[in-house]
Amino acid sequence: MVINSSFAVMHLSVAAVLISLVSFANAFTRNDFPPNFLFGAGTSAYQVEGAANEDGRKPSIWDTFAYAGNAGQFEGNGDIACDQYHKYKDDVKLMAKMGLDAYRFSISWSRLIPDGKGPINPKGLQYYNNLINELTSQGIQPHVTLHHWDLPQALEDEYLGWVSRRIIKDFTAYADVCFKEFGDRVKYWTTVNEGNGGAIAGYGSGFLPPQRCSLSSIYNCSKGNSSTEPYLAAHHMLLAHASAARLYRKKYQVKQQGFIGFNLIVFGLIPLTNTREDIIATQRAKDFYIGWFMNPLTFGEYPSTMKKNVGSRLPFFTSRESNLVKGSIDFLGVNFYNTFYIKDNPGSLQKKNRDHMADMAAEIKPYSGNGTYTYEFPVIPWILQGMLQLMKNDFGNFPIYLHEIGQQTRRNSSLDDWSRVKYMHEYIGGVLDMLRSGLNIRGYFVWAFLDVFELLNGLERSFGLYYVHFEDPSLRRQPKLSAAWYSNFLNNKSIDSKIAMKTEENSSVLANTS
Ligand SMILES: *[C@@H]1O[C@H](CO)[C@@H](O)[C@H](O)[C@H]1NC(C)=O
Ligand SMILES: *[C@@H]1O[C@H](CO)[C@@H](O)[C@H](O)[C@H]1NC(C)=O
Ligand SMILES: *[C@@H]1O[C@H](CO)[C@@H](O)[C@H](O)[C@H]1NC(C)=O
Ligand SMILES: *[C@@H]1O[C@H](CO)[C@@H](O)[C@H](O)[C@H]1NC(C)=O
Ligand SMILES: *[C@@H]1O[C@H](CO)[C@@H](O)[C@H](O)[C@H]1NC(C)=O
Ligand SMILES: *[C@@H]1O[C@H](CO)[C@@H](O)[C@H](O)[C@H]1NC(C)=O
Repeated sequence: MVINSSFAVMHLSVAAVLISLVSFANAFTRNDFPPNFLFGAGTSAYQVEGAANEDGRKPSIWDTFAYAGNAGQFEGNGDIACDQYHKYKDDVKLMAKMGLDAYRFSISWSRLIPDGKGPINPKGLQYYNNLINELTSQGIQPHVTLHHWDLPQALEDEYLGWVSRRIIKDFTAYADVCFKEFGDRVKYWTTVNEGNGGAIAGYGSGFLPPQRCSLSSIYNCSKGNSSTEPYLAAHHMLLAHASAARLYRKKYQVKQQGFIGFNLIVFGLIPLTNTREDIIATQRAKDFYIGWFMNPLTFGEYPSTMKKNVGSRLPFFTSRESNLVKGSIDFLGVNFYNTFYIKDNPGSLQKKNRDHMADMAAEIKPYSGNGTYTYEFPVIPWILQGMLQLMKNDFGNFPIYLHEIGQQTRRNSSLDDWSRVKYMHEYIGGVLDMLRSGLNIRGYFVWAFLDVFELLNGLERSFGLYYVHFEDPSLRRQPKLSAAWYSNFLNNKSIDSKIAMKTEENSSVLANTS
């Protein structure tokens, strides 16, 4: 009976897919985009590789975070994850079949250099050479992130990682190894993933590794200082980035002809009301979330609103450092998921001990009208366009890669992930409008290529184009409707009912497991 009713639901959703696909078929095709615009998909090392204790890899702060029980009730850690470490050849075949121009992945620092500094692990070196060679042999560009929240635990233990200036030297030496060993084939380097998100959540709320905080509504903070450490971590990320970028430009760029950038998470930000206070608070929130990094990268100093509200807790750049940081990106990677209303909150500045949010003097509220967060993200391309337009106005028309953009669904819901298809259709169509309006967007990377080990809820949340059968020891990958849609789009085909019919026949796999 359960199976029958599941089938009824499946048929209903297939009908919905047919209707929505027909209604937006032929609105645009791949051919409408500039020929050199890149379409790809992404993952990160800890979330897909597995083999966490194999071939000389040592733990990162993310291993420690997962082992402390932060991954939710489903799966505890990334020890196995999607086992891409052993399955990279099959995964690259799937990417090639799908028609991806590029694959965004990250290097596990503690796999390549297990103690964070010192000797290189030959097996780690071999793995990334193999992966990169496999990609390039299939005509897929590797886009590499050096740090995706997985700092070697050894550096955290020795000097608290990003909180210390000592990270600058070790990060630069690690980057040097990567440029030297892989730079003949890798042309796109991103130093740090979501610098702003990592600083706030890793050192302010304790939401991300290394889970340091002193003021948090969520965690019992046992170590850290939410008033100072987010600003220190961000400052050292900027200096480490700038140091690696200077090295790349001096020693490698002319020969290797590549590009180096930084990555931020960008939220849609909208004033809660039309009052002057909320409009100014929204401007301030843009300074605190985006200007925090983009002002130094563009002008060599922090926004004046931050200097005023954070005061002596905000580190400062010497003039040498300011010149080093200024102009140190060739492109910006943007991760975009969610949108918030901003409400002025001047009272928070009266607090003696303030975190980033209190310094911002604003509150954030869910965008959905009834005041609750929805599981799936709202689909509002005009907000992404508005945010990128503002960044262009404030910081110039530098190249942007949408490094992560994707819809969250429950992992066990259905292979008919039509809400993800709708999301991709709306945002990719939106990007076409953005290009026509003069925004300098160069690429679109779906998060994620497959269902990966997600940061906060382990395997319960899903963003993948491919479903992974985690209960099956072979970790079989199976395309969702979204994979078929993206593949058709990438191959310049119009979207038609064939995709929906094909997936209908496979829906039983999930129906039977529910
Ligand atoms: C925080 O500490 C309190 C009191 O010791 C305890 O009741 C609570 O469960 C702890 N919360 C977490 C998330 O550990
Ligand atoms: C955090 O640092 C600030 C500034 O140095 C200090 O006033 C405050 O007491 C510290 N908080 C904790 C929890 O250590
Ligand atoms: C709020 O709106 C969302 C999306 O429309 C809906 O899923 C949710 O059930 C609503 N919540 C309440 C409490 O009405
Ligand atoms: C689709 O169009 C793009 C851009 O015009 C082109 O580069 C690509 O070769 C085409 N792909 C196929 C499979 O026709
Ligand atoms: C459906 O299942 C068949 C047989 O298992 C497989 O060959 C095909 O690729 C699947 N198609 C989709 C869209 O999942
Ligand atoms: C999927 O997982 C959610 C969260 O645990 C659970 O509430 C729901 O019943 C599951 N659905 C199916 C179809 O198994």
